[in-house]
Amino acid sequence: MNPAKLRARAAGILARLQQQEGSLATLLTRRDEGDEEGFALLQEIVFGTCRWFHQLDAILKLLLDKPLKTKDADLHGLLLIGLYQLQHLRVPEYAVVNETVAATKVLGKGWARGLVNAVLRNFLREQTDLIAKAAESLEGQYAHPRWLIKTLQQDWPEQWPRILEQNNQRPPMTLRVNTRRMARDAYLQALKNAGLDATAGTLTDSAVYLDKPCSVDRLPEFDAGLVSVQDEASQVIPSLLNLADGQRILDACAAPGGKTCHLLESGYAFSGLVALDNDERRLERLRQNLDRLHLEAEVVCADATATQSWWDGTPFDRILLDAPCSATGIIRRHPDIKLLRRSTDIPKLQALQLLLLQRLWACLKPGGLLLYSTCSVLRAENSQTVATFLKTQGDAKHERIDGQWGVECAFGRQLLPDSAGNDGFYFARIRKPA
Ligand SMILES: C[S@@+](CC[C@H](N)C(=O)[O-])C[C@H]1O[C@@H](n2cnc3c(N)ncnc32)[C@H](O)[C@@H]1O
Repeated sequence: MNPAKLRARAAGILARLQQQEGSLATLLTRRDEGDEEGFALLQEIVFGTCRWFHQLDAILKLLLDKPLKTKDADLHGLLLIGLYQLQHLRVPEYAVVNETVAATKVLGKGWARGLVNAVLRNFLREQTDLIAKAAESLEGQYAHPRWLIKTLQQDWPEQWPRILEQNNQRPPMTLRVNTRRMARDAYLQALKNAGLDATAGTLTDSAVYLDKPCSVDRLPEFDAGLVSVQDEASQVIPSLLNLADGQRILDACAAPGGKTCHLLESGYAFSGLVALDNDERRLERLRQNLDRLHLEAEVVCADATATQSWWDGTPFDRILLDAPCSATGIIRRHPDIKLLRRSTDIPKLQALQLLLLQRLWACLKPGGLLLYSTCSVLRAENSQTVATFLKTQGDAKHERIDGQWGVECAFGRQLLPDSAGNDGFYFARIRKPA
């Protein structure tokens, strides 16, 4: 794809994100970028512009005499990607300006050539002042939406600046080794032999951090199912469930199946594992993961809250509820969350999380254990959801998670995002008395 077309495509994606018409996962596809290099650059520009969106937008406001019209959202996106490239990429300045200006024609907005040219050149002339001025607002300083900064300040009075800083980093690529089939050290050696430097994780005995991300095709034994891509925080899950042979397990929000597969890889002879999700497309990915890893589960597409539609009445010994959430713990992997998530989403998510807990509780055997987890760092979805549930469900008992890791909360334990390590993740154990 030619450079101007590529920038126009990036601008279009950004405009659609701003209009809430999809996510990076659905909008950024390999549709028409012929070559690997072009796609990598498109990905870099779009991810990077989302990561720094709020800071770039604060700068752009200083450079524009008046805001652009809603119908010019693509032009707004184009200006932001221009600013992103000038600030963060090692592309020569003249090339950024020329290609971004040329992209106006691809967008059918040749009339904006002068405007784009002037904005980018003015930025180059005054960038130190502009960046400092933009940093006078919270959004401009931390490159996050204001509501999220405020919520994090409230939830994490000591840790919030570090959380914001970590969210602006690029995430490491983390692998999960199936340690029943190959010891982690042996896999580290296999990576080394393949020319890939990596280090072992410290939270689990299965996690490996690659020094540099790479395509899964380059990973030794990937097709043979010895290794999967999964953040280390998620890999903590099986160790919190007191698994044993003969148990019947429910993974209630299972797709695309990272945790389902890990539970099955733990090697216990479960009497069954039901992998439930209400999204058939995501379940298709779960089935592909099971196939690649040579694992088996009973896959069910249903709304977990409508237990009468999918539950046969046989109780489960263990339930994993990896609940739908704001995903604020994995912003560095999905920087579009900064644009897509709204403060008004949080009470709705909280209500869904509580309903899931309440409905699934009936499916848990007396003496059984439910593990509630989210990839959120917001107390409202974590400790507070669990507190509300415990208040309404008299027979539910919170069980403390012992550990040297993360932060102990009123209920449960929280991992915060760590640049060299895990994503932000929350866990709480709830026991049904025998
Ligand atoms: C955090 S993701 C789960 C990730 C998964 N556990 C893994 O490790 O790959 C949350 C999942 O909940 C599913 N979900 C949301 N509402 C649901 C509901 N009412 N019933 C069942 N699944 C639901 C979503 O489709 C999504 O796949």
